[in-house]
Amino acid sequence: MVTEFVFLGLSDSLELQILLFGFFFVFYAGIVVGNVLIIVTVAFDSHLHSPMYLLLANLSLIDLSLSSVTAPKMMADFFSISKVISFEGCFTQVFLLHLFGGSELVILIAMAFDRYAAICKPLHYTTIMCSKVCVGMVAAAWGTGFLHSVSQLAFAVNLPFCGPNEIDSFYCDLPRVVKLACADTYRLDIMIIANSGVLTVCSFILLIISYTIILMTIQRHPSARSSKALSTLTAHISVVLLFFGPCIFIYAWPFPIKALDKFLAVFYSVVTPLLNPIIYTLRNKDMKFAMRRLRKWNVNPRVKS
Ligand SMILES: *[C@@H]1O[C@H](CO)[C@@H](O)[C@H](O)[C@H]1NC(C)=O
Repeated sequence: MVTEFVFLGLSDSLELQILLFGFFFVFYAGIVVGNVLIIVTVAFDSHLHSPMYLLLANLSLIDLSLSSVTAPKMMADFFSISKVISFEGCFTQVFLLHLFGGSELVILIAMAFDRYAAICKPLHYTTIMCSKVCVGMVAAAWGTGFLHSVSQLAFAVNLPFCGPNEIDSFYCDLPRVVKLACADTYRLDIMIIANSGVLTVCSFILLIISYTIILMTIQRHPSARSSKALSTLTAHISVVLLFFGPCIFIYAWPFPIKALDKFLAVFYSVVTPLLNPIIYTLRNKDMKFAMRRLRKWNVNPRVKS
């Protein structure tokens, strides 16, 4: 019986491991600071209490959680000779990854819907995106993440593990763990592709269609506000591509390429969650002003500007 799994990690060479540790440390620190800054700014600035920014803060929270599932363990492992994780720990990682991943997916759809309502139905925007709808979307995001994660794990936890326990990666994910089971996992593989794969591909297509409609609407009715809308949209679309590119490749691509798989996993755990805050804050004037206001208020709390 297997009671723990062993990660092979990213590299065997000590020098490279130290270099990678430095790289990941900087990225993870950036993820924590950047995303916490967005959450705090949105929470404390009443100018930003609109659906767009509330959803953005939720996205930051999910990004931070997603990266915290894998990055700290990976960094600690650079300094240990045997990179082991317990059976329960491994399945906890799988559960949390799919919980946060599934929620992020729905939040991205909610953000696209919010922009669609704002740009294509401007007169009805406040009634369409009222606070009830916004809260409902966030609840739906967490609910979908939970259901998606539970439905995948339900089939995997009861698999017999008796043989090799080495995972050629730095975290546990379903496609790799299932390969180690002493059973015919063909149907389970199909189930993973059907669940994670179809979910990501369908959401991706839905998002592409909605952003295409929004862009076409802007082109047909150019106005003074469209350049601002366009810059917001570019940010959204970049984030969507960054999230879905690796995701589709890992879960829905039928011919995995081992080396590329590992690289994408790195991308996924430390690069995407860092790029989201950078893309949103650097391109967004309201966000930058809000952060400046927050800083002033911190330096001198009595001048509540
Ligand atoms: C997420 O969105 C909900 C609903 O709009 C909001 O009440 C909540 O404050 C947001 N969470 C964060 C961390 O900003």
